[in-house]
Amino acid sequence: MTGRFITFEGIDGAGKSTHLPACAQFLRARGVVVLLTREPGGTELAEAIRDWFLHRPADPQTEALLAFAARSDHLARSIRPALAAGEWAVCDRFTDSTVAYQGGGRGIGIERVEQLEQWLHPDLQPDRTYLFDLDPEQAARRRAMARAADRFESEDVGFFERVRQAYQARVAADVRQHGAGRGRIVVVDASRGPGEIWKILEEDLISCCSTWTPR
Ligand SMILES: Nc1ncnc2c1ncn2[C@@H]1O[C@H](COP(=O)(O)OP(=O)(O)O)[C@@H](O)[C@H]1O
Ligand SMILES: [Mg+2]
Repeated sequence: MTGRFITFEGIDGAGKSTHLPACAQFLRARGVVVLLTREPGGTELAEAIRDWFLHRPADPQTEALLAFAARSDHLARSIRPALAAGEWAVCDRFTDSTVAYQGGGRGIGIERVEQLEQWLHPDLQPDRTYLFDLDPEQAARRRAMARAADRFESEDVGFFERVRQAYQARVAADVRQHGAGRGRIVVVDASRGPGEIWKILEEDLISCCSTWTPR
């Protein structure tokens, strides 16, 4: 029996990290062993890459490869063993982020990033992805209130528009593959208040927990 893999996606300031702990808590209350983790990061090596990735310069192609180098270690040492042991992995960002940020935002192309995805994890996709969709101007206002900007958060609204569009391309592909309402990605209107958003997540988690059977 293997566990389930849940990811949170969306532009910086959309509300991913705000809602992630509640998701883990919800599952733990139902007896699920949860690995709460993040990308880039989640292992000693991947966290070291994260530090470079977020704070020191790299060209777009190198950025994409750093993200996948971190992901390779994270998958091998943390996520895959956890899933194999029946634990559920709940991860703040995953490959959709690399498609969106490096493929879309930085402009190296969605297809190029998807080639790396096919190389590293052709067999594994998240079972559920909550995509926090928010207008980039609103996200920038939230970030400005909350924290100092990292290398990505310093980017302009145009960058985040491209990121958002690339996320939407992943949603469209997911719908083409699985049908409307049956894909892995749930688009969450992140302009709503935290209480409303949590209700959406909770309802979806309840239905996932009741319908998912062991793989
Ligand atoms: N639904 C919401 N409505 C208003 N503010 C929010 C909402 N969700 C999160 N925030 C605030 O926005 C900021 C960014 O949220 P955060 O969870 O860090 O976003 P992300 O992890 O997606 O970058 C935080 O200050 C957080 O408190
Ligand atoms: Mg966050």
